[in-house]
Amino acid sequence: MTEQHPPHGDLAPDTLVVAAGRPPREHDAPVNAPIVLSSTFYETRAPEAGDRIYARGSNPTWDPFEEALGLLEAAALPALVFGSGLGAAAAALSLVPTGGVVIMPRHGYAGSLGLAADLQARGRFELHLVDIADTESVLSLLEALAGRSTDGALMLWLESPTNPMLEVAELAVLTAAAHAAGAMVVADNTFNTPIVHRPLESGVDVVLHSVTKWLAGHSDVVLGALATDDPTLRERLLSHRTLHGAIAGPFEVWLALRGLRTLALRMERSQENAATLAHRLAGHSAVRRVRYPGLPTDPGHERAAAQFDGFGGIISIELDDAAAADALVAAVRLWLPATSLGGVESLIERRRRQPAEPETVPEELVRLSVGIENADDLWADLDRALRHARAS
Ligand SMILES: Cc1ncc(COP(=O)(O)O)c(C=O)c1O
Repeated sequence: MTEQHPPHGDLAPDTLVVAAGRPPREHDAPVNAPIVLSSTFYETRAPEAGDRIYARGSNPTWDPFEEALGLLEAAALPALVFGSGLGAAAAALSLVPTGGVVIMPRHGYAGSLGLAADLQARGRFELHLVDIADTESVLSLLEALAGRSTDGALMLWLESPTNPMLEVAELAVLTAAAHAAGAMVVADNTFNTPIVHRPLESGVDVVLHSVTKWLAGHSDVVLGALATDDPTLRERLLSHRTLHGAIAGPFEVWLALRGLRTLALRMERSQENAATLAHRLAGHSAVRRVRYPGLPTDPGHERAAAQFDGFGGIISIELDDAAAADALVAAVRLWLPATSLGGVESLIERRRRQPAEPETVPEELVRLSVGIENADDLWADLDRALRHARAS
């Protein structure tokens, strides 16, 4: 007889990352879900709803990851995994009908902004960029656009904190106003992870992840995911994934579930390291400004403290100019100069070196993705490189 797992709804996130998505407790069964490398499945009767049939539609290796992420995001339904975060973003944006309107943070992830701008240029929808931390102006825009949303043609896209400016939005307030205006709300939860915040609890309709980052956690896969409580929305997103084919490989999803097992520990350590470094950086003479919601002086501090269970593992710093920022990145020896974030290793990048980065992101801004190394070693490397950058 199969012994059931504990009721997952009662478990804390740091238990869920370990306990969710396990195979049934049957005698001799594996404790880890196996990787299933099969593009097709035996059909011994006429296909019925939920049958596997073909691996573009579903794969047994996706199921435990989707179950675990759904539970972590406090969703009533399993999440949906995609071939990348941007693949997931494309599916989420497909929910806006042609002729609709999308509101996005002007400092959101450059790829999501680029995709939305491309869709606007092709006439799919109208795009409005906002300062997502300026609640009043977002509320006014929602009110002004409300009349056009009678057919559900309005979407508010949240990212909080934003990448890389770390601006904090008032998720529950904006979501309630968006719903009142007839808008659907998507929240990119990549930076926070469900350990720090679960946007569905703030009323958001769809949660997006670049699984590539903290969830998988080892900078070895590119994956995305969406989670929702709404069966109709989930069906539409699943249909988009199947029809457009932006699917994940089973091996990558297996790695992501393996990475997820340590998410709570990794986030705990990254956040602890980030807090230590942010405080030290705030007192460094070569650093003009530190953006980190965990600093009491940060404009997003109170909001983050009120809404989130932590302040995340990303810090952005501003130096004197782009040359100083480039010199810093070139001088580090332990930090890895590379794009991306959320891995066990600490990464450093001057964001504006990427042509797609919004022009309102300062040229001299350097984003730090804080890993799980020893904080004093990370500090010693940064401090030495900062001194070098100022002298050069
Ligand atoms: C906040 C955020 N959302 C989405 C993405 C896109 O994810 P992916 O690179 O997995 O396509 C990224 C990638 O950097 C990101 O930082």
